[in-house]
Amino acid sequence: MTTRPRKPAPGTPAPGKLPLPEVAEMKRRGDRIVMVTAYDAPSGRIADDAGVDLILVGDSAAMVVLGHDSTVPATVDEMIILTRAVNRGARRPLVVADLPFGSYQVSDAQALETSIRFLKEAAADAVKLEGAGPMLSRVRALTSAGIPVMGHIGLTPQTATMLGGFKAQGRNAAKAVQLYEDALALEAAGCFSIVLEAVPAPVAARITEALSIPTIGIGAGAGCDGQVLVWHDMLGLYDGKSPRFVKQYAELAPTIRDAVARYAAEVRDGAFPEAKHTYAMADEELALFEDALAEVHARR
Ligand code: KIV
Repeated sequence: MTTRPRKPAPGTPAPGKLPLPEVAEMKRRGDRIVMVTAYDAPSGRIADDAGVDLILVGDSAAMVVLGHDSTVPATVDEMIILTRAVNRGARRPLVVADLPFGSYQVSDAQALETSIRFLKEAAADAVKLEGAGPMLSRVRALTSAGIPVMGHIGLTPQTATMLGGFKAQGRNAAKAVQLYEDALALEAAGCFSIVLEAVPAPVAARITEALSIPTIGIGAGAGCDGQVLVWHDMLGLYDGKSPRFVKQYAELAPTIRDAVARYAAEVRDGAFPEAKHTYAMADEELALFEDALAEVHARR
């Protein structure tokens, strides 16, 4: 009798996947954690090949992929399609699905229903939500149900209007203390990690020291336990204005534009396709085809 490889039981990590507790271990060892956003299977695969630890399927997709002016319009259905695609490309990194605006703010029950969809339909390993205060009970409800949660404080793009725009947060002592207390409360509620976005570096460093869970910074300085950048920002693919905290590691848009322009020119002047890009046919089949066409024409 042959034995077939067993599929992992539902709720258990796929083979080769970074175990979630390893994220906390990395903080304890002082190993910096690398997170990027990704929104499709090829970028998930590239991020995996490049050795990133966590992939965030961010609702930044609304801006960098779907062309909206903010993250607010992202829907659960859109985010599920993107998360599932990333999961088809990525093996080792933990895939964190960003809960879009309106999919968790209403109640703990709504947050649970949305997150369960991400785990079941998109095989997400964890979810991320923005804010503290009323969101603490969401974190408790999700983690009690066995769903790992990443927090996100500082500049929270879903509520940027309330914050006065896409601006750094925690820049006076009172606001910095509020962020510090929010971070401690999110840890106590059960988050396995917290994104700190656009927070002064000394504030982020003090928060990082105070927590036993890792912080992932974006515009929050080198004192965080890890960093995250948005795929399109870091690769020079976004034509909107990138924030000052973005470091661009490649300038891919001009390379892609040039390639597409060369393709267009070659189609127009007949240089593409060449013989090597086309399929041949045996001479006798071609002759039979021509005879058959002659008959078709004769019948008309
Ligand atoms: O949606 C996103 O990409 C994010 C990151 C900026 C942390 O939330």
